[in-house]
Amino acid sequence: MLIKSAVDIPSSEITSHSAYLNRRKFMQQSGLAVAAMGLASTAGALESHEGTLPKFGPDWLKTQVAGAKETAFGAAEKLTPYRDVTSYNNFYEFGTGKDDPARNAGSLITDPWSVAIEGECEKQGVFNLEDILKSMPLEERIYRLRCVEAWSMVIPWVGFPLAELIKRFKPLSTAKYVEFTTLDAPKQMIGQRSRFSTIDWPYVEALRIDEAMNPLTLMAVGLYGEILPKQNGAPIRLVVPWKYGFKSIKSIVKIRFTETAPINTWQAIAPREYGFYANVNPEVSHPRWSQAKERRLPSSLFKTNRIETQMFNGYGEQVAHLYKGMDLRKNY
Ligand code: MTE
Repeated sequence: MLIKSAVDIPSSEITSHSAYLNRRKFMQQSGLAVAAMGLASTAGALESHEGTLPKFGPDWLKTQVAGAKETAFGAAEKLTPYRDVTSYNNFYEFGTGKDDPARNAGSLITDPWSVAIEGECEKQGVFNLEDILKSMPLEERIYRLRCVEAWSMVIPWVGFPLAELIKRFKPLSTAKYVEFTTLDAPKQMIGQRSRFSTIDWPYVEALRIDEAMNPLTLMAVGLYGEILPKQNGAPIRLVVPWKYGFKSIKSIVKIRFTETAPINTWQAIAPREYGFYANVNPEVSHPRWSQAKERRLPSSLFKTNRIETQMFNGYGEQVAHLYKGMDLRKNY
């Protein structure tokens, strides 16, 4: 993965937008203890950030996202401010710089949006987003996101378990993997038009079907109580919190059930560096850097905020059984 030098974005403890904070603050003030409820600490994140909220998207989706149920996921985590979550991104379709997606993703057309369901399943077809989300209860889950480049964030996602979606399409017994594909639209995506890109578009990622069915695996349509900003993968993306961030593919237009393991985008470019599994593992270094620690955003040159990386990004209790008996050095 293209790594920039250790230049940190200027950061602050502020940001997060007011409506979101007010709602959480209200819950905290109404006697619901942070620890008991699993609410992440929003201390210091008090400034309104309305100016950067998404100004696009259908009303039905905004309403559904705003109504998402709070859950206990993410206890004791301090949220990464909204500004950092939405301005420090990897979305190579819009450029390789961390600030490129926020600057360039405005050209992405997210409505109407449909997702094609293909491969080894009973119910194939092309479904519009509204039908996919119809009767899909949304919930908020606070997850850590650990990028393979050794930075991390804590993000309050709004979404639904991928398992709920998969069940609807009735995978056959031959469906061993689930492959996801991002939109292929060079006219909308400046990075896909670049002559210097090493990526063979569209971006593709896949999971083993049991990983896809794990209750932690989320399809996100929002963050911080709002619809997803375009730079974060609007209108629908994957979030797999125990794997390096590149598995969490954005702006998905196709889901395909397959019998054999698909070759993923980064795996195809540099198979020695990026494996199929990409589970967060502090003991297995990337060939070019250690994965033992990570830089939790926001950070700066003076306050690097380096913390220990946890096995499976701290979600081992929920997912370690998926890899029982496997050599995680070979299956990186
Ligand atoms: N999905 C697509 N389609 N294109 C990308 O370049 N980058 C991945 C992942 N999903 C990427 C993508 C990487 S490397 C990371 S770390 C996460 O998105 C970053 O998600 P975020 O920008 O919302 O924090």
